[in-house]
This record gives sequence, C-alpha cells and structure tokens, in this order.
Amino acid sequence: MKKMELLSVLCLVALTACGTPDDNRDTSLKEALKSKFWIGTALNVGHIFQRDPRADLLIKHQFSAIVAENCMKSMYLQPHPGEFFFDEADRFVEYGEKNNMWITGHTLIWHSQAPAWFFVDETGADVSREVLIERMRSHIHTVVGRYKGRIKGWDVVNEAIMEDGSWRKSKFYEIIGEDFIPLAFRFAHEADPEAELYYNDYNEWHAGKRATVTRLVRDMKAAGLRVDGVGMQGHIGMDYPSIEEYQAAIDDYAAAGVKVMVTELDMSALPRPQQGMDGANITDTVAFRAAMNPYTAGLPQDVSDRWNKRMGEVFKLFLDNSDKISRVTLWGVTDGGSWLNNFPMPGRTDYALPFDRNYEAKPVVNDIIKMAKTK
Ligand code: XIL
Repeated sequence: MKKMELLSVLCLVALTACGTPDDNRDTSLKEALKSKFWIGTALNVGHIFQRDPRADLLIKHQFSAIVAENCMKSMYLQPHPGEFFFDEADRFVEYGEKNNMWITGHTLIWHSQAPAWFFVDETGADVSREVLIERMRSHIHTVVGRYKGRIKGWDVVNEAIMEDGSWRKSKFYEIIGEDFIPLAFRFAHEADPEAELYYNDYNEWHAGKRATVTRLVRDMKAAGLRVDGVGMQGHIGMDYPSIEEYQAAIDDYAAAGVKVMVTELDMSALPRPQQGMDGANITDTVAFRAAMNPYTAGLPQDVSDRWNKRMGEVFKLFLDNSDKISRVTLWGVTDGGSWLNNFPMPGRTDYALPFDRNYEAKPVVNDIIKMAKTK
C-alpha cells in the first residue's frame, strides 16, 4: 500500500473510532452560513492544544471564526507588571490561521479577570489617572501589537455600561473617568490600524444600556476614532429577551453606523436562581442548591423542544438581519464545556449550546442550515 493510501485508511479508522462529531457531516453551519455571517465558537485551552479530538473535528467542521474563552484576558496575558505570558494566545492564533478562521481577540479592557496589580501601587493604594492610562496603553500596545495583522478584530472594552445606562463603577471608571473608553480605542488603533475594534457587553437590549452604548459609539466616531462594531454577548434565556427587543437593539446599533456582532451566544435551559438574575457579570453568583439543578439525568423532551424552538427563532432573527450582523459566535463548543454549568450557580448540568455532551448536533442545527439555504 502506498504511503498516501495508508494515511487515508488510518484517518478513516481514527474518525470511525471517535464516532461522528455531529449528524451534518455533508453540510455544516459554516458552509450554510458562509454568505450570511461568520459563525464562531469560543475555545478553551484544551481546544487550543487539541486535547479533545472530537471537539477538534467539530470546531473545524462547523465554525468559521474563533475567540479565546479565557486565555487572552489581562490576568492571564500580563499576570505581573511587564511580564507577559503568550504561550496559549500564540497557539490560539496559529490554530485560527491554520484553519482559515476569523480570529477575534477578547478582551483588552475589562473590570473582571484583570490582574489585581493593574490598579494599585506598591502600598496597595489606587494608582493615579496618569499611571493607569499608561498601564492601559502599554498592555494594549503590547498585546494588539504582537498579533498585528493576524487578529482581525478586538473586543477593546467589555461591560462598561450598566443596564440602566449608567457607567459601571469599575476601577477604570473611578480612576480615569469616562474617557478610559475612547483612550482604549485610540491605543488599540495605534497598535494595529487595520484591526476592527468593538465595544462588547451583555444585556444590550435594555433601553438604558442601548441608549448609552449608541451614544458612546456615535461620540467616538464623531471624535474621529475607529469603532467598527458593537458586540452583543447574547447570554440569553428561554424567556428573555423578546425577539422584538432583540430586533430593536440590533436596529439601534446598526443605525449608529457600526456592525453588529453576537459574540457570546448561549441559552441556559435551567431555572433562574433568582428573579432578575439575567446578567452575565461573572462575579454575580449564588451558592449551589439542588432544586436549581433539575436535569442531571438529561433534558426532558418538552424542555428540549422548547429550547430548540427558541434557539431556531433567535437564529431566524439573526438571518433576517444578516445585512447588519457580521458574526455570530457561540460561547463554547459543546454543552459539557459551557461556562453556564458553573454560572451563576456552580455545579449544575446545563444544556446551553447547539452541540450536546456527546458532540451531537441538536435539532436546531439542521433547522439553521435549512433556514440559511432558503433565506
Ligand atoms: C467567562 C468564561 O466563560 C469562564 O470560563 C470564566 O471563568 C469567566 O468568564 N462575559 C464575557 C466572557 O465577556 O469573557 C465571560 O467568560 C462570560 C461573560
């Protein structure tokens, strides 16, 4: 047997042994959606280092875009002043390039998952406005500069505005004031003039947040800064937001003159631990209660049907707006790896993504593919 033949037989054997990662091998989300928008997924470190062959096959088969779930956040990239750690981020970018994927950097300036040292001096007191601006500049220049021309778009600022439209009282806001946002965009543009730059947040359909974020985008554009898009995270629920609210928000951001992106889509199938607990601020958590974890043995058919129906409606909305939406990215690859198993309550079994714990496509995947072909 010739070397090449032997190789293909071996590949086939390996694939069969692993099982098929989904039931859409002939077609895929990426194929079906290619003229609509990028379809992305968030990679954890295991995915980046290809430790899970089934996940690896699924990612390459289904997705045209990637973002790093954690390894490009500032606490990982710059754990100590001036000491950068790029091993994982480098591999992430190589992975995307090898597979011809649109690569997004997440995220430069965020109140969460930032190293504690960033905001304080040696005595533990808050640094001055000048020092914090310089730290922002140096972090952004180093990180964006390293991947210049390779990372195509950056979540420059994450989660700076509250649902009521007020400013989050983060250290960036308290020490620098409102202009930390335009400054961050300016620094990112200096480091890579070609890169797209985004403002990213959750619950961006709330009227107050919508108003402030659109104003922010318009103000920055009027000041001559580069702003390419608003990233709507999309950690949605089975009963929120309504399709109408979602549509209105998409319209508002598009009217502000930027692309709209759905950057972190998932939908919990579990009960909400508390009324109103529908945000995605990662420190807003509650203790485990078994009553809030009802589906450990599998999702009942009726809940699963409702989940698939609603996710289909959400994708119909995205397809209806594909002239405004440039990317839809799922926050994770399969249900087993979703952060929602541990947020806002640790230790639950959730069913938040279109691919299940066995790497199988849920019915909605075929529905999306069919819709994309007819629209
Ligand atoms: C989450 C990750 O998925 C978790 O693994 C991590 O422990 C906390 O952060 N909004 C964001 C993402 O912008 O970066 C967050 O990711 C989820 C909420």
